[in-house]
Amino acid sequence: MNFLEERIIKDGIVKPGNVLKVDAFLNHQMDISLLDEIGHEFHRRFADCPITKVLTIEASGIAIAYPVASAFGVPMVFAKKSKSINIDGEMYVAEVESFTHKNKNQVVVSKRFLGPEDHVLIIDDFLANGCALQGLISIVESAGATVEGLGIAVEKGFQIGGRVIRNLGYRLESLAIVDAMDDETGEITFRKQD
Ligand code: G4P
Repeated sequence: MNFLEERIIKDGIVKPGNVLKVDAFLNHQMDISLLDEIGHEFHRRFADCPITKVLTIEASGIAIAYPVASAFGVPMVFAKKSKSINIDGEMYVAEVESFTHKNKNQVVVSKRFLGPEDHVLIIDDFLANGCALQGLISIVESAGATVEGLGIAVEKGFQIGGRVIRNLGYRLESLAIVDAMDDETGEITFRKQD
């Protein structure tokens, strides 16, 4: 088991509806040394890529993307969720549907912060159905930039997102892939990874 899987076993809580709460260390209270370790781990895994920007989506993606950008020594950009339909031509826009929250958001990134010269590492805390990641990929592609890879803290392996993104040919690295969880026993099963 790696450091994040160990922490999930120790402090993660399995809730009904296949929801894994990690708010004691990842997305409400944040364990800063764990986040630093995540930053170093993604830096190690994507060390062969010429990363110029780390891209994530607000809100909780920001905390994970920050130490990753710091490890690479590059800027971090976060896509903003916007309810407004009046987006001017200065923004890249993607539509992101949340199955969990049953709503749709436009996510936007200013054209000033992403361009054809960029090599982008996309980072997020959770991967479930993959809508957020697909929105971020489409923003990078609208900018004419290159998606070098995607790094996720916790992938829910029993939802379709991971399979869809890998089938599209992207390099996707998840630190922990949860293949099953049981809200009655609290048991969490991780996918074995090299
Ligand atoms: P998707 O982005 O992969 O398509 O997933 P989905 O629509 O199902 O998830 C919507 C939101 O719920 C995302 O956050 C995602 O991170 C979060 N989420 C999904 N499954 C879990 C889970 O098991 N545990 C926790 N803690 N979160 C989960 P978001 O709406 O972008 O929220 P935020 O980043 O603004 O907090």
